[in-house]
Amino acid sequence: MEKKSVILDCDPGQDDAVAILLALASEQEIDLLGITTVAGNVPLSLTESNARRICEVAGRADMAVFAGAPQPLMRKLVTAEWIHGKTGIDGADLPDPTMPLQVQHAVDFIVDTCMKAADKSITICPIGPMTNVALAMMKEPRIIPKIREVVCMGGAVKEFGNTTPAAEFNIYVDPQAAEVVLSSGVPFVMMPLDVTHKALVTPERLQKFKDLNSPVGNVCGGMLDYFNRFDMTRYGFEGGPLHDPCVVAYLIEPEIFKGRNVHLAIETTSELTMGQTLADWWDIQEKTPNAFVCDDLDHDRFFGLLYERLGKL
Ligand code: RIB
Ligand code: CA
Repeated sequence: MEKKSVILDCDPGQDDAVAILLALASEQEIDLLGITTVAGNVPLSLTESNARRICEVAGRADMAVFAGAPQPLMRKLVTAEWIHGKTGIDGADLPDPTMPLQVQHAVDFIVDTCMKAADKSITICPIGPMTNVALAMMKEPRIIPKIREVVCMGGAVKEFGNTTPAAEFNIYVDPQAAEVVLSSGVPFVMMPLDVTHKALVTPERLQKFKDLNSPVGNVCGGMLDYFNRFDMTRYGFEGGPLHDPCVVAYLIEPEIFKGRNVHLAIETTSELTMGQTLADWWDIQEKTPNAFVCDDLDHDRFFGLLYERLGKL
């Protein structure tokens, strides 16, 4: 498989942290050009420093980490400390990072990287609100033909939302940004709650992170132990959903996932259903599909990939 040139845009967040580690551990498939951070699970000052903390745990203090938008395009920032804890990666228990934060703004990094690249060569992976990606497209529309595909975690199609009954967190926080990215016409792959709610960190799976018996394994064990609680309590799940690593696993082994090409639309006006991702799953309106939406995965292959790769760090 051809190596992908990837920009990972995130809001760490315990699940973002595992996604970063999986990307760092998969250099055969992923040339990680940079990690851009956005306000989401917690404010930007924490998401950017958490991204650096996680790079340092993986021994990658050389990785370029950028800070981006501190708030959504048009709406007030909504954060999720109730799930992720005050630090955003509660359970990790990591010191302040010593590696530098890049001076360049994340949006300018995305623009500059794409403008220097060949057409259809850059894969952008938003696993938080899509504010940075939308701003980059708005600032410099000429980056759009440079993007191979956007592979995002967000949305809920046949599942209810996790932030309102209609909307999943990443899309709910910045629905206008998601609409800018979707309507840009770039190839769009979405990992919604429909698939991530099937990637549950059960007690047995959690133990296998701890059994890696490494700094990375210990940090993942501590983070996921904390992160599991919310969804297990709310939904009665046997574990917490490992949302964001689904995006990185798709880049490495897309055949782990199942989905379909559908017409997707995002609610950006009604406060009642703000951020809803409306997929025409049965092609009722016969509109041209504009997204590949996943709704299932081979969870044994998914977790096997995670343990195999994180075990290398
Ligand atoms: O709804 C789940 C998503 O919101 C994940 O990306 C999680 O990290 C939060 O950003
Ligand atoms: Ca996230």
